[in-house]
Amino acid sequence: MASSFGQTVRVSVFGQSHSAAIGVCVDGRPAGEAVDQGPLACVIAPPPTGGRPWATPRREQDAPEVLCGLNPQGRTCGAPLAMEIRNTNTRPQDYDNLRTHPRPGHADYTASVRYGGEQDPTGGGHFSGRLTAPLCAAGGVCLQVLERRGIRVGAHLSRLAQVDDARFDPVSVSAEDLAAPGAKDFPVIDDEAGRLMRERIDRARGEADSVGGVIECAAIGMPAGVGAPMFDGLENWLARALFGIPAVKGVEFGAGFAASDLRGSQDNDPFVIEGGAVRCATNNAGGINGGISNGMPLVVRVAIKPTSSIGVPQRTVDLARGVQDELVVRGRHDPCIAPRAVPVVEAVVGCVLLDALMSNPATLPEALS
Ligand SMILES: Cc1cc2nc3c(=O)[nH]c(=O)nc-3n(C[C@H](O)[C@H](O)[C@H](O)COP(=O)(O)O)c2cc1C
Repeated sequence: MASSFGQTVRVSVFGQSHSAAIGVCVDGRPAGEAVDQGPLACVIAPPPTGGRPWATPRREQDAPEVLCGLNPQGRTCGAPLAMEIRNTNTRPQDYDNLRTHPRPGHADYTASVRYGGEQDPTGGGHFSGRLTAPLCAAGGVCLQVLERRGIRVGAHLSRLAQVDDARFDPVSVSAEDLAAPGAKDFPVIDDEAGRLMRERIDRARGEADSVGGVIECAAIGMPAGVGAPMFDGLENWLARALFGIPAVKGVEFGAGFAASDLRGSQDNDPFVIEGGAVRCATNNAGGINGGISNGMPLVVRVAIKPTSSIGVPQRTVDLARGVQDELVVRGRHDPCIAPRAVPVVEAVVGCVLLDALMSNPATLPEALS
């Protein structure tokens, strides 16, 4: 299974939804970096649900245990950093029938074909959204390294069930703007949009159905000149890693697909000198030209499909008997994945940006303190 990404900062995720533990190994970070483990747990485990309609009732002890890679002073020692999260709250009986009755929209059928029926189907096995918890731990470490160098990453739900949030200002988004949605109970810029989104999630839950959404993520402080043309560009690396988040079905940069409706005179970002530095007056490129950062905020949006495990009866097949059948999915599933995926997108972007900087160390800014 290809569960690793990164060229210099290499992130490898392991485990299954219901195995003893899940975890991650991160290789290639700079040595001597302090790691505050508090924010790692915080990124993974938002506060208890307390009636939040968008969160799954399954709770776990999501704080990662650092197994190795830190010195006694709590700084990275240069060796691979491994973190583990124990799985304790599992109900494998909810998934008994999925080996023979694949869930439409999930990976049960394709995994069964690919791995000859040897895959672990409980809770989605290695395809479970739970595998994003170690991703968040890895990203939490990388984000701390970036933050120390003035690079900030933040995300919010820009659309959910056809309700739009405001967008980050692609030219002048600030560190405060990036941090604000993640500090809220529901990660949006406009709280009224957030209220409508939650209503839609609630409605979907009431109808045993699910909804999808779009996450917008931006990074500021990235120096110009990071990346490469053609197949190793920043867009390529980000897209590859972001598509590794389960349920991601689309990735766009800057104006993205909407750029195809513009004229060149509208889409081009004019160059200007500001405070002695080259900037762009607009940012339709999302901070990347030719695969290389141009010093403007990096802006990427990620489309998350509706949760495939729904309580509505669906058509499937009985693989054992080779006949058409019906499936009602049991188990604990979010009626919407997108809110929980917001910190995951931040984490993955953090890993990729640190990887891009470490792959050309001349571009890595000095630590600020
Ligand atoms: C944070 C997160 C939580 C998820 N939770 C669920 C879930 O509860 N039920 C479900 O069917 N899919 C869930 N998923 C999505 C599935 O893991 C994903 O749809 C599946 O692996 C198939 O992959 P694909 O959608 O990328 O094709 C979740 C994804 C993420 C990122």
